[in-house]
Amino acid sequence: MKKTAITWLVSGAFAVSVCGQTQIPIPPAVEGTTFDLAIQHGTSEIFPGIQTQTIGYNGAQLGTTLILQKGQTVTLNVHNQLGDTTTTHWHGLHLAPKNDGSPHTPIMAGETWSPSFEVMDNAATYWYHPHLHGKTLKQVVRGAAGFIIVRDAEEAALALPRTYGVDDVPLVFQWKTFDAAKQIVELDEQDNEVLVNGVLRGGTLNLPAQVVRLRLLNGSSHRYFDFGFANSLAFKQIGGDGGLLDAPVSMTKLVLAPGERAEILVDLSGKEGQNLTLRQFGTQLPQGYPGGAMMMGGGSMMGVLDNTDFDLMKIAVAAPTAGAVTTIPAALTVNTPYPQAGAASRTFGLTAQPMMSMDNFFINGAKFDMETVNFTTELGKTEVWTLTNSTMMAHPFHVHGLSFYVVSVNGAAPPANMKGWKDVVTVPPMTGSVKIALRFDDFADPDMPYMYHCHILSHEDAGMMGQFLVTSPASATGEAAPNSVCPICINSLPMPSGVDFSKVVRAEVFDLAGRLVRVHEKGNLGGSPLDVSGLPTGTYLMKMSDATGKTVAVQRFFKK
Ligand code: C2O
Ligand code: CU
Ligand code: CU
Repeated sequence: MKKTAITWLVSGAFAVSVCGQTQIPIPPAVEGTTFDLAIQHGTSEIFPGIQTQTIGYNGAQLGTTLILQKGQTVTLNVHNQLGDTTTTHWHGLHLAPKNDGSPHTPIMAGETWSPSFEVMDNAATYWYHPHLHGKTLKQVVRGAAGFIIVRDAEEAALALPRTYGVDDVPLVFQWKTFDAAKQIVELDEQDNEVLVNGVLRGGTLNLPAQVVRLRLLNGSSHRYFDFGFANSLAFKQIGGDGGLLDAPVSMTKLVLAPGERAEILVDLSGKEGQNLTLRQFGTQLPQGYPGGAMMMGGGSMMGVLDNTDFDLMKIAVAAPTAGAVTTIPAALTVNTPYPQAGAASRTFGLTAQPMMSMDNFFINGAKFDMETVNFTTELGKTEVWTLTNSTMMAHPFHVHGLSFYVVSVNGAAPPANMKGWKDVVTVPPMTGSVKIALRFDDFADPDMPYMYHCHILSHEDAGMMGQFLVTSPASATGEAAPNSVCPICINSLPMPSGVDFSKVVRAEVFDLAGRLVRVHEKGNLGGSPLDVSGLPTGTYLMKMSDATGKTVAVQRFFKK
């Protein structure tokens, strides 16, 4: 972003003079029921006069904020203009596995993926990002990520700030590594800079002198934040990953793990003309939390900014707006944790080999395997999962497709700000343990799993991930009978209905990493069916196109 041409959505009404300082841009937002997101390459002027290669949705980096209404059915058209396979995952949303955008639903280069689903989530801040197995880090670290704001009637009835970009502002904080040419290093954990909404730390955000709401997202690949104001100003957390807290929780420091969100209210009433500084307090992160002091101590710090405190951004307080919110509600919602009586239990041991390894991680002794379903549970069941950590560092554990309640952290009740619905929870290092309660409501699928993983993206890519099926007696019978047969594709493959297969002249088979493994052309091979013998057992995608190269259908299949 150029300092002179800022994507700045705030009205001119409270523009203040901030000569020479970078304004923190606010991503454009769209509301409605049909959304288009084009994931694409671009360049961003993060350092003055230098173009950095980035990836964004509908822009050079980050993405359009999607504002969704609970209860509405939405269609999200993701256009893959990356020239590489990708996926887009709706992090935190409660939806069917086939709509989740996990590694099981790759979008091939040039294709559009259009999941459609009912928004069932509570008003809160969610996000979206690529999730291709083995390439999540590579694509996310270059900037592909956007906010999802869900609104609902319960939240709408509260006197909370909610004018987007004015008194309700999304802020994504991202550690990144830049090389000497100021390009983003994809597979490096040094993390020598921090961006706030895509601009270098130290930028300025104008906010009105009233109660303001900040939606904080740690969109980093590896490191934690410990947020606080330079003058120790207290603020109130009102919401976590998946919804409101029972009541605002007053605090002066807030730790956020990669993938985790928090909504905070800051009372700027009467502060017009003042400046506030939001800082990272790395020295106060618990030991073993990436970004703080490492467990072993000594000279083995990995990042130049680890275990240090520094300014993240300035808030320049301007005049209040008309209709300003000036008080903070005392009560917000009622969270009712699932009853644990009769809940099944499962354990997940997070380990490293050797124990102090920084890059060789396992869950229950295994690395992720795309073709292995780690367990199967049933629709409607409640489970309590015990997550234990025998490594030297904290791991943020994330579950797809639902939110959970934190039951305990190291044996104690969770702090008040962790008592709402969450989808990322930190498992503390060195024998740390966390219990969470989950319930598998609404969506069963006999063959498409949900994922769980460490949200440190290099750990996830390296296999600190697993997957599970939610089944129901109704879904166990499988899909409806095949509708039609593609003449040049696999004989027995059930194909989607309503597709004109007479047009298919070319079938391409891709593995789930997006590699082309078979091509079959009608011209060369007549009507003979596609030969998949010789392919390793696993899940594949077959893309069928017509004579003009247009895609006729994409079908997922399992090769036994
Ligand atoms: Cu934010 Cu599996 O992801
Ligand atoms: Cu997720
Ligand atoms: Cu991890």
